[in-house]
Amino acid sequence: MSSLNYQIGFGNAFATEALPGALPIGRNSPQKCPYGLYAEQLSGTAFTAPRADNRRSWLYRIRPSAKQGAFTAFEGAPYWNEDFGQGPANPNRLRWNPLNLPGKPTDFLAGVHTWAGNGSSDSQSGIAIHLYAINQSMGRRVFYNADAEMMFVPEQGRLRLVSELGIMEIEPCEIAVMPRGVRFKVELLDDVARGYLLENFGAPLRLPELGPIGSNGLANARDFKTPVAWYEDVNEPHELVTKFTGGFWVAQLTHSPLDVVAWHGTHAPYKYDLRDFNVIGSISYDHPDPCIFSVLTSPSDTPGTANLDFAIFPPRILAMENTFRPPWFHRNFASEFMGLIHGVYDAKADGFAPGGSSLHNCMSPHGPDANTFDKASSADLSKADYLRGTMAFMFETRKVIRPSPQALQSGSLQANYDAVWDGLEKHFSTEQKA
Ligand SMILES: [Fe+2]
Repeated sequence: MSSLNYQIGFGNAFATEALPGALPIGRNSPQKCPYGLYAEQLSGTAFTAPRADNRRSWLYRIRPSAKQGAFTAFEGAPYWNEDFGQGPANPNRLRWNPLNLPGKPTDFLAGVHTWAGNGSSDSQSGIAIHLYAINQSMGRRVFYNADAEMMFVPEQGRLRLVSELGIMEIEPCEIAVMPRGVRFKVELLDDVARGYLLENFGAPLRLPELGPIGSNGLANARDFKTPVAWYEDVNEPHELVTKFTGGFWVAQLTHSPLDVVAWHGTHAPYKYDLRDFNVIGSISYDHPDPCIFSVLTSPSDTPGTANLDFAIFPPRILAMENTFRPPWFHRNFASEFMGLIHGVYDAKADGFAPGGSSLHNCMSPHGPDANTFDKASSADLSKADYLRGTMAFMFETRKVIRPSPQALQSGSLQANYDAVWDGLEKHFSTEQKA
């Protein structure tokens, strides 16, 4: 979608320079760096994390990040917090209409609304799920998140993410991941932008293992893009905002912190086009669990029990025979937060709009609504269903997803979501076996 340059691959040891020879070769931190640059390491995992999990980058920059003043409280992110409520969580199936677009100037930090979550930044486990709606670029305000890596899932409007490691542009149906600690600002490429934002407090996202699927399929590493080095040498005041243990802080800078001229390493932003996902499913009967749609995963300390799975429901062909083709009725251990980027989700006839959300928690029963059930129960299975023009997604976690107080008090909360299952009548009859 743009003329920006990217490096290809996932988790590679990337190496990039915006000026020829700016990246030292053979030594991480020579006595004197080229062009008078400062060397700085940014580590995203523990120093001793296993090599395959280790994330760190070396940055060669005009000024070291240490050159900053003291932080004071920042008031510009009034709806972004780590308040997922206290005490027992609401077990109801919940669904929300999309967030209203802002009526007054609203930048990214002001436009993030905390919607649900679990765990905490302190425990380095769990996630926060937010909605954003913005109409203003961040200007001379730069942000870094010490609490989490962040995933952007735009629903409308393109974003330009200007980071100290380079620039990425994303549009709806693309995602971007900004690692913990990387400094960046969000600019709009359209009048407004709206979407979903995930904070991952746990282990960094990675590609899921493929097991018997083999060496290809799902999200392929070659489709991930990391920006090339880019810098600005701007000697004008900037605000540096951070999120730290759930609160927001601001420090004044005399210059732009987006001044990294060259870098190499594994701790870097990336983007991915969800339309590149290689969908795998049943070609006989029934259908696999939704983990077959996993794009990225954040593992927990328990094997196979993710801190977060990010799964999508993209365009695909359903050809299973003698099978109820939409997702079945289910009660799961995992908790599920869903969003819709565009189109219609195949398990619901209506009420789930692009930009909307739904929450189905641990052991809360859910599945197709009555209209979808009736249609799928009598569908002609000799023909394939071509699901076109749709892109839904799910944040699935091992821990209960607690709706935030402001999500529960929001006017966008649908009053009687339970009613979508009211039309499921009793069909049982001892007189009629088939
Ligand atoms: Fe579900």
